[in-house]
Amino acid sequence: MTGVFDSGVGGLCALRELLRLYPEEDYVYLADTAHLPYGERTRGEVLRYTAEALCFFASLGVERVLLACGTASVSALEFCQKSFPFPVHGIAEHAAYATANATKSLHIGVIATQRATESGIYTQLISSFCPASRVTAFACPSLVALAEAGADKETVFQALKRELAPFEREKIDTLLLGCTHFSLLQDGFAAALPSVTLVDGAVTGAYGFAATFLPSPKKKKGSLRLFATENPRAFEAQASRILGKRVRAEKAL
Ligand code: DGL
Repeated sequence: MTGVFDSGVGGLCALRELLRLYPEEDYVYLADTAHLPYGERTRGEVLRYTAEALCFFASLGVERVLLACGTASVSALEFCQKSFPFPVHGIAEHAAYATANATKSLHIGVIATQRATESGIYTQLISSFCPASRVTAFACPSLVALAEAGADKETVFQALKRELAPFEREKIDTLLLGCTHFSLLQDGFAAALPSVTLVDGAVTGAYGFAATFLPSPKKKKGSLRLFATENPRAFEAQASRILGKRVRAEKAL
């Protein structure tokens, strides 16, 4: 069984990709909606909430976990890898690698949460894969709420037009969406920055995870259980929209 974790709906973009690649796997998804947004939490808080989520997964008998959250990946991955008996994978490294591969001009942007941006880890990882690159990292916390609310394209576009000015100045050719919530706003990003290549951190994270961890197909029907630490009804409504099928969510922790 595979556990997929995020503070809210963003990690569903990674889960959606895993369901497409490996539909016969058993998945459990946990959204820590009680503590959202992680981007505005301290590193210690993100570490503690992520560890609690992994204890919950352990109680269900998961065999591997994807931290489908950029903020948790840059704050808690190493700790979780040392502290739990199952493999734990984050999204940051694969996202950074895909970004370093995608750029031609070597002028790269990273947009993520406050916590992830402040950690400097995306910039470090991209620079390690592409030392000649110039990386501009920028936090955009207001977008997390838009993604959680399922905001319409026009609202997202107007917000992005305001928020993305720093990247227009930097003349980037590639932008890493380093917060999985931003994957849900992808159409808005594409409309606001039409000449920029977008790297979806949720999808590249899912590919990296699948290539490393998922077992070979089992020829059976897979299962899916969704949990939210608060307000599972609101979460399941958004999850049904994002996954494109009616799903139920249970209350966890
Ligand atoms: N989806 C999360 C990320 O990838 C965090 C959003 C938040 O809770 O601030 O960073």
